[in-house]
Amino acid sequence: HSYQLTMLAVGAKVARPFTFKKCCDLLVSPEGQRCYLQLKQLSGLPKYPTKYILTIGYFTNNCPQTTLQQQQIFNKFPLTLNTFSTTTKCLSEAAPKHYIATNNDVSVLCAKLVTNGMVFVSFSDGTSGEFPCVWMRDNCQCSKCYNTHALARTTLLDDLDVDVEPTSIKVSDDSLQVAWSDGHQSEFEASWLKKRLFTPEAREQHRTRFKLKRVLWGDNFQIPEIEYSPLLTDDKALLDLIVAVEKHGIALVKNSPQEVGPVLKIIDRLGFVKHTHFGYDYNVTIKFEPKSMAYTKQNLPLHTDQPYYEYPPGVVFLHCVSQHKGPGGDSILSDGIKAAELLRKNYPEYFNTLASTDLYLRDRGFVTYDFDKINKNKTIVLDGNGEVRMLFYSGTSRDSLMDLEPKQVIKFYKAMKQFYQYFQDCRITMKMESGDMLVIDNSRVLHGRTAFNPSESSGMRHLHSANIDWNEVASKRRVLQDKFSLHLE
Ligand code: OGA
Ligand code: ZN
Ligand code: ZN
Repeated sequence: HSYQLTMLAVGAKVARPFTFKKCCDLLVSPEGQRCYLQLKQLSGLPKYPTKYILTIGYFTNNCPQTTLQQQQIFNKFPLTLNTFSTTTKCLSEAAPKHYIATNNDVSVLCAKLVTNGMVFVSFSDGTSGEFPCVWMRDNCQCSKCYNTHALARTTLLDDLDVDVEPTSIKVSDDSLQVAWSDGHQSEFEASWLKKRLFTPEAREQHRTRFKLKRVLWGDNFQIPEIEYSPLLTDDKALLDLIVAVEKHGIALVKNSPQEVGPVLKIIDRLGFVKHTHFGYDYNVTIKFEPKSMAYTKQNLPLHTDQPYYEYPPGVVFLHCVSQHKGPGGDSILSDGIKAAELLRKNYPEYFNTLASTDLYLRDRGFVTYDFDKINKNKTIVLDGNGEVRMLFYSGTSRDSLMDLEPKQVIKFYKAMKQFYQYFQDCRITMKMESGDMLVIDNSRVLHGRTAFNPSESSGMRHLHSANIDWNEVASKRRVLQDKFSLHLE
């Protein structure tokens, strides 16, 4: 390939074409400055599988340090970059102009101010919608208002006039230029604006990128299974695991080594471990003077782990290093959101009680240090739209102290008993084989186990466990879905 780059020298406004052949070329600008061009192919931007990023940098005198001058992402060749400043400044002084993911496929067809503080914009792909003026001014992408390294807004609320209005709006091929009543000028790329439409369809897309849609399940559910070894190297396999856990709240990893370690290897691929007072990771075996009911042979009724934390572990890994050989030690699992929705439908009053009553959850003791963890929360936590966001439920950790009127206590017990009944109705039972690993969304899926008798087994039941927060896992999912240009729901 040979790429043409047209530079427009500042002041002279004379177009000077450059030709460069390699992906990284050193050349001398007409002003005698040595500069470099670097062309990198980018993959992984959503929807645009072939993108290129062009970086133009200068050598300042003989200083080996280069000044990044401009970056632009292209998706077609030949490249023609027809405006950029040739003024050189140190990197610390001048933030480079950085255009992200220019989509040349969409342009602004028309834009006009409508009376209620909105600018109506229609795009060449047939989409259109209103953008509030105050939002546009607040989200101006110019270098004064937005830091392209930090990808962060730098405008101050102190300076924002909430009644700001355009004094003029101009439409060019792929951007919208607005002059504002506060004297500022903004330019919005069509593709940037289009992605931020306030239409119900656009907002639905943002919502599913934030969190994938959950699929609720009941007692006939088959847990999605994923092979262990590809998870260590294959990002597609890792994405499959995340998607399964995000959508269904659970996945079963098969054929992992029957030793302590695989859990940490997978968490390492996803992000980092969430440490709790039980440790960085923990071994679930029968222990002398158990500090948790998990460390006994008794049954563990359905629960979410560590609800006495204000931020309980998001995703819990239970890896079966070796399983109890006799009867018992089965895993029980139930979709708490399915139970919550049944409650909402059939016992709305109970649902409201659990969604509005604060409860203490507590764990005290000594593991590596003395602790006394108390959380005060609703059993069913709703988001602003009334959707169930997460659950806090553990019979063993529910405190005997209650910050309630006595008659509220009775109401609470009735509601909780019915909720628990639905957990039980919707549960599935399975027995992990040695080498199996359950990956559980702890904000949603309750887990437990049936009792077992160690004297009826030839070997020891041993689970190895560790946790990771949802923030890390969902972030990894977004990164990987972009890497593979996938639209997920
Ligand atoms: C736990 C737990 C399940 C099991 O340790 O929190 O729920 O099967 N263990 O032992
Ligand atoms: Zn600005
Ligand atoms: Zn548990």
